[in-house]
Order: sequence, then C-alpha cells, then structure tokens
Amino acid sequence: VSPADDLSIWLQRTVWQRRVGSWEHEASPGLERVVAAVLDLAELTPDDEVVDLGCGSGQVTLPAAERASRVLGVDISAGMVERLRARAASANLDNITATAVPLERLELAPRSVDVVVSNYVLHHLSDVQKAALVRRAHGWLRPGGRLVIGDMMLGRGQSPEDRAIIVQKARAFAARGPAGYWRIAKNAVRYFVRIQEKPISRERWVRLFEEAGFQDVRVVPVVAEAAVVVGRVGPQAH
Ligand SMILES: C[S@@+](CC[C@H](N)C(=O)[O-])C[C@H]1O[C@@H](n2cnc3c(N)ncnc32)[C@H](O)[C@@H]1O
Repeated sequence: VSPADDLSIWLQRTVWQRRVGSWEHEASPGLERVVAAVLDLAELTPDDEVVDLGCGSGQVTLPAAERASRVLGVDISAGMVERLRARAASANLDNITATAVPLERLELAPRSVDVVVSNYVLHHLSDVQKAALVRRAHGWLRPGGRLVIGDMMLGRGQSPEDRAIIVQKARAFAARGPAGYWRIAKNAVRYFVRIQEKPISRERWVRLFEEAGFQDVRVVPVVAEAAVVVGRVGPQAH
C-alpha cells in the first residue's frame, strides 16, 4: 500500500463514514437492478462461502446470506459495518460476519472462498488497485469459484459507447434544471480529475479478469453505465 493509497483510503473512509444513513435512502431502482443482476450471476448455492467487497450496509450481503452458507462483508467504513451488523441481527441472519478494512489491505487465506461479489465499489479504487484486487481475488477463490463485479463501467469518452452514455447522463441531469447543471459540473470534475470516481470500460474489466487467470469471462450490461462482469476460476487454476 503506497502513500497515494493511504491518501485515497483516508478520503474514502471520510466520505463513506458520512454517508451511512443517506446511502440507503439514495439507493435507486437502477441500483436495485444491478444488485439483482449481481446476485443472479453469482449463482449462489447453500454451500457457498461468499465475500462481499465494499458491502456498505448490506445491499448485496443480506440477500446473499439468504442463499449461501456464510457471507463476509468488508467495508472501509466502520459505520457501514455497524449498520450491516444491526440489519443482519434484525433479519435473524446469523451467517454474516463483517469487518471494517480497506480492500487495499484485505488479506484472506488462499482458496478459502467460493464466490467474491462486489457492487458499486471498485470505481473508487485506482486502476492499479483494481488490477491487484482482481488478481488477489483469484487467489482467494477455490477452483470453480466465481468473481462477480457490478459497477459503473465506462471509459473516458474514447469509444462511441462511452460517449453515448455520457451524453445520456448529461441530458438526464440537464432536464432537472439548475440542480441538474450542478450535478453535471460536480460529476465532470470528479470524473475527469479522477478524485473519487475512477471507472474503467467494460473491455478493460474483461482484460483485468483474463490477465488474472479467470475463465469464461463475460459482461452483462444492466442499465446505462452499470454492468456486471463475471469470471470463473478453472478447475486446476492454482
Ligand atoms: C456506493 S457504496 C455501495 C455499497 C453496497 N455495495 C451497495 O451495493 O449498495 C460504496 C461502498 O464502498 C465502500 N468503499 C469505498 N472504498 C472502499 C475501499 N477502499 N475499501 C473498502 N470499502 C470501500 C464504501 O464505504 C461504501 O460502503
């Protein structure tokens, strides 16, 4: 973990510690579709041991725990983790554990999990950290295990697909009037300066998975810029 990573960990922790309550309220119908797609593509079975990277207050963790044997939720924000524990307790789900650790520092035993999931988190990591995390996830997974990542996936306007998404989003915000113009300006700064939001294209996600050794890698577009990438660890991958 480099000094640049330390800075980004501090920034993410500060931002998300403040958003514990508001994130649940902000969850949109579009995001719910991405959560549903992640769960679907994870193909969870009652024997599966699952890790949810950037679990927030449990948007994926809670439904995953109903389908799998155990789920470990990992998040940088202690507030999110506390909220997840409280929600798990009120849903009587005793197969959830949660830990407040930045993904950049997460250590798990090799071949110790069946499925690694993540939703709307990894665009907060640098590109180097994204690649490192995909490689580390490959090592944590048992043969046949799956990595399922839902996220905003778009490049910086190089492809016609990127440009279409950017225009579509700008139009949707502009239709809201002055509040929308403010959102366009804020998002443009974040996106081009790459302070907090560092998404990459679907093609680059596929390449990261393949370079880490995942097989049968595919992308499932969900809505606007949101998509899910899935890959499988081969039977004799390690
Ligand atoms: C947009 S929310 C998504 C939460 C949840 N996965 C969902 O589907 O609603 C992003 C989450 O990622 C967490 N996060 C951001 N950067 C992180 C990092 N470096 N390590 C661990 N968690 C991180 C935040 O605390 C926050 O809970």
